[in-house]
Amino acid sequence: MSGIFKADMDNIKRAGTIINGGGLVAFPTETVYGLGASVYDRHAVAAIFEAKGRPAFNPLISHISIPEMLGEYAAADSRAEYLAKKFWPGPLTFVLPRVEDDPSIDLVCAGLNTITVRCPDHPVARALINVAGVPIAAPSANRSQTISPTTAEAVFESLGERVDMILDGGPCEVGVESTILDLTTPKPVLLRAGGVTREQLEEALNEPVYISDGNPDKPTSPGQLLKHYAPSKKFRINVTEPAADELFIAFGAGYPDALMNLSPSGNLREAAANLFAFMREADKNPHYAKMAMAPIPNEGVGLAINDRIRRASR
Ligand code: TXA
Ligand code: MG
Repeated sequence: MSGIFKADMDNIKRAGTIINGGGLVAFPTETVYGLGASVYDRHAVAAIFEAKGRPAFNPLISHISIPEMLGEYAAADSRAEYLAKKFWPGPLTFVLPRVEDDPSIDLVCAGLNTITVRCPDHPVARALINVAGVPIAAPSANRSQTISPTTAEAVFESLGERVDMILDGGPCEVGVESTILDLTTPKPVLLRAGGVTREQLEEALNEPVYISDGNPDKPTSPGQLLKHYAPSKKFRINVTEPAADELFIAFGAGYPDALMNLSPSGNLREAAANLFAFMREADKNPHYAKMAMAPIPNEGVGLAINDRIRRASR
């Protein structure tokens, strides 16, 4: 099944079943349409990156249905709690320290120890999260490098059959993406301008909101500020013959004896789903001082894997 479906309660329930079954559902929010999967299903989250054709793993926004859920996933300080009270549900997203050390959400968080959370102001989005019973990870529902969709038709034009179901809730009211505010530092930093303005945030917080390069007219594009996950061990990539002190992370059928294999069958989506959890595990393994990874084909979601391991290698 794929295609556009009216966002009535029956179809929202079907969409929730798809989410729980590891599928992808595009759904309306007040800003733009999102391409959603369960935050706890790393295979489905890998499928999001594959469907978007993103050449890198960005952290995805975890969408919650009620503001009170924030504390379950993020270490919300008084600033976050106050802003959530004032602007949620609404077009404001927080970057906060993660509270859960659950490796199943590593890919959603792009391997970082921060989590990006928002409570959207749209009845369909919130009903879907409730029906699914899990927060929904969702970037905008478009192919990478194209503009964010504000109608179900635009989602279909961009992603077509790559998404299991598109819930049609009509055009998005706000039409631009949410404001992203980094609250992991003592000084709040605006990462993306959006539905809630910098002035509104400053007035609410009663303190200046910084823009990463200090130029208020030129917000840093999201992603530029991204801190990248890096293992503490020395990490070599494109390795076919690991040394004795290297924990080897294999890929594909050529390594029957490898301790870890991202995908024995050579499936890149499976490899993407396992990447952060495996790297984390390898980094913690007390029996090896170093780690190494097999070559990963540079195609499809392999591009994002290679981008990430290149940054992590040294
Ligand atoms: O309005 C929205 O925010 C929509 C709807 C669906 O909620 N979502 C959306 O997600 O626009 P996305 O993934 O297309 O854009 C979020 C941007 C990405 O460029 C991501 O890299 C950045 O926010 N981002 C997320 N977490 C971040 C973090 N911890 N640090 C820096 N940038 C981050
Ligand atoms: Mg986007």
